[in-house]
Amino acid sequence: MIENETIRAILSRRTIREFTPQQISDEQLYALQCAAKAAPSGRNSQPCHVRFVQDGAMLHEMHLAFKNLVGWDTPAYTRSDTNPFYHNAPTFVFVYAQGNCAMDAGILAENICIAAQSMGLGTVIVGSAGALFNHESGKVWNERLHLPPEMVYQIGIGVGYPNEKPEPKPRFDDRIEVIR
Ligand SMILES: Cc1cc2nc3c(=O)[nH]c(=O)nc-3n(C[C@H](O)[C@H](O)[C@H](O)COP(=O)(O)O)c2cc1C
Repeated sequence: MIENETIRAILSRRTIREFTPQQISDEQLYALQCAAKAAPSGRNSQPCHVRFVQDGAMLHEMHLAFKNLVGWDTPAYTRSDTNPFYHNAPTFVFVYAQGNCAMDAGILAENICIAAQSMGLGTVIVGSAGALFNHESGKVWNERLHLPPEMVYQIGIGVGYPNEKPEPKPRFDDRIEVIR
């Protein structure tokens, strides 16, 4: 097995759902912005608009709106009984685009996750928040995020310092095959 920093970052990444309150540094924030910008996209169309939100009050407001919409007893949405959708990550990255650009957004999200991992940060990818942001009532957030109304939430990423060390999640052994 080849070992290098990049492979190590990919293999050691885990979804983190508990973060310390410590904010990431501006240097780390800038590196994540560069990782987002460098992401490949179909025909280099660069459809994704990315917002790094570090305003805790705004994130909390979004959490309340999310719960008021989907209900308060909904751990299936957030994978947690107690956490908000952003799992109290001090930085939450919103990836929006016009129409369905899930592929481009997913690739961009993973760039952010691996870059964060390489800097000792943890991440959680969040699809569930689309229930709010792509609901009619959630469209008010487009303006707050400086996005035109036609932009659609594709994916989000919580970023911060991990406050847990989860075991690796199991992976299927029969999904990958080499054909020669
Ligand atoms: C497209 C996508 C959407 C996800 N949405 C959520 C989510 O809304 N909330 C959450 O807590 N985790 C979410 N996750 C994290 C997955 O649950 C996690 O990646 C999976 O359980 C595997 O664990 P691992 O990342 O630690 O390997 C999402 C992951 C992906 C790729």
